[in-house]
Amino acid sequence: MNIEQMIKDARLIPVVVINRLEEAVPTAQALQRGGLPIMEVTLRTDCALDAIKAIAIQCPDICLGAGTVTCEAQAREAVEAGARFIVSPGLDVATVRYCVANDIPVFPGCVTPTEIMAALAEGIRVVKFFPANVYGGTKALRALAAPFVDVRFIPTGGVNENNLTEYLDEPAVFAVGGSYMCTSKDIEAGNYSRIEALTKNAIEAVHAWKAGENR
Ligand code: 3PG
Repeated sequence: MNIEQMIKDARLIPVVVINRLEEAVPTAQALQRGGLPIMEVTLRTDCALDAIKAIAIQCPDICLGAGTVTCEAQAREAVEAGARFIVSPGLDVATVRYCVANDIPVFPGCVTPTEIMAALAEGIRVVKFFPANVYGGTKALRALAAPFVDVRFIPTGGVNENNLTEYLDEPAVFAVGGSYMCTSKDIEAGNYSRIEALTKNAIEAVHAWKAGENR
């Protein structure tokens, strides 16, 4: 499984918060049924690591990552649990070094030129741009991308079906992250058919966008 290629092809990373362990596998399966075998489980809840373990065992085809990773110890635990990529809200050099040394794709959050330069110094070429809506959206992303021609971004935060293609239109965008196809509300309500439907819509939007521009 080439993780970076899978994410680049799908152009989407669903960001998921699992509050109860029993929600983990059905949420993963709903995303899979919707056509998106990618999932970032955020380390924001007590059961997040167990959720990663359960999904890794029961849905081995999912390109499973851990999000909200803020230190190296968390990255290690997430990888031991079965995460195959790491996403951070910010740039923690120790986390990045651990991932790079172990060949684990890592996407640190960067919203300033200085942070991007620190990521570049660690050999990182794809960064998370978070929270994208607060830090200036596509306009800021384009301005940041201008001097860093080799850097690609994963805008996340405030992305939804209305602005998805606006972000994808930016040449420096690698993929887009978001929770809108798998909201905590739907997960908690066990509304897996809605998660599946919203995921399908998101995938279709990406396909239409790709077809429109011959990408
Ligand atoms: C994240 O952790 O990446 C964000 O919470 C996702 O943002 P969203 O919920 O606005 O999509």
